[in-house]
Amino acid sequence: MSSSKLVMKFLSQKDMIAAGVTDMERCIDAMDEAFTLAGKGDYVMGGSTRNSHGQRIWFPKEPKFEGMPKGGPDQRFMSLPGYLGGRFKVCGNKWYGSNVNNPKNHGLPRSILMMTLNDAETARPLAIMEANVLSGMRTGAVVGLSARYLAREDSETLGVIAAGPISKFCTTAIVKALPSLKKVVVFDINDDAARKFCDDMSEKLNIDVSTVSNFEDAVKGQDVITSAISGNHTPLFEDKLLKEGSLLTMPGRANVENSYLRDAYIVPDCWEMQKTYKIEGLMLPEDERSIPHLQVHNMVDSGEIKESDLNDLGKIAAGIASIDKASSKKRYFISNGMILQDIAWAMTMYENAVKNGLGQDLVMWDEPYLV
Ligand SMILES: NC(=O)c1ccc[n+]([C@@H]2O[C@H](COP(=O)([O-])OP(=O)(O)OC[C@H]3O[C@@H](n4cnc5c(N)ncnc54)[C@H](O)[C@@H]3O)[C@@H](O)[C@H]2O)c1
Repeated sequence: MSSSKLVMKFLSQKDMIAAGVTDMERCIDAMDEAFTLAGKGDYVMGGSTRNSHGQRIWFPKEPKFEGMPKGGPDQRFMSLPGYLGGRFKVCGNKWYGSNVNNPKNHGLPRSILMMTLNDAETARPLAIMEANVLSGMRTGAVVGLSARYLAREDSETLGVIAAGPISKFCTTAIVKALPSLKKVVVFDINDDAARKFCDDMSEKLNIDVSTVSNFEDAVKGQDVITSAISGNHTPLFEDKLLKEGSLLTMPGRANVENSYLRDAYIVPDCWEMQKTYKIEGLMLPEDERSIPHLQVHNMVDSGEIKESDLNDLGKIAAGIASIDKASSKKRYFISNGMILQDIAWAMTMYENAVKNGLGQDLVMWDEPYLV
């Protein structure tokens, strides 16, 4: 019989970096594994549909109690539980809070994240880890994975909307996934953030990175476009700005035109999760509803788009579905993030930490109380 003593690892940001959390090539490969398992169905996420993105704490817009935070764009707490199968066979939960004013008012990142891993059979906690870098990496790596499977192989230019941390992770991943890329342009409403993005990315990625002064110039004629703005603005990517065969790969919110959606390949991260977002969203009061990609849902409901034409990235990774990469059809990847991504990269970090003796051991108990 195994010991009932319960010891888990705590991995700080320093430990995570030592364990290799910033290795983008490996992270893209881990996302490939996670999406392949998702495509085959070897996973469980939370909620009644087993496909919920997670459970959110929405603060009221006008709190009635002193000290209760006020609701607003990108102001939330969120818990994302799930199980990932394959070689992982582990459960995990990511718990984070987000406040868009953190960088300006407190010198803190917009969101602050922690990740827990548990043995899927016994529930024994394996590790608690800092997850800001982990989460940013997995968000970027999925965008890189979308470029691997969806972008034309002759793609040379990348347009980036917003110069925040998520865009930096996405840019790193797209550049790693597409060796043909030659030029990156970035637009941010904050000039200093755009300039810093250029300095950081050109040094890190050894590629030509420059700023542009408006949204249109960052989008028009680019082979690949990514956007990760925060706050309450949702940019419209007009069909006329988008080049034939281009990839719009979106970790952040975006509006596109119906004509674009009728003609493009639409590739969700997980359509069943997107459907659950809608079910859960409809339970909120109308003025607080925010259902990602409602336009795609509406066009599916009206029959303008066939649901069977939506192919999850996981199905493409698993070889169950495919797109013609050489075609001139535009491609639209929509990502809201799945806990399966965090679990795959967290488990890889935990295994590296154990192998290399990283992190602190935390003793939860020597003997469980009253057992
Ligand atoms: N899909 C996923 O898995 C996933 C994961 C994490 C974060 N996100 C989303 O990514 C977004 C960005 O995250 P972050 O941590 O980088 O945020 P951040 O607030 O640190 O940075 C966002 C940047 O967007 C810029 N910006 C705001 N409005 C703009 C506009 N209209 N045009 C151009 N630039 C604009 C800001 O100046 C800032 O530089 C968030 O909305 C978040 O919800 C998605």
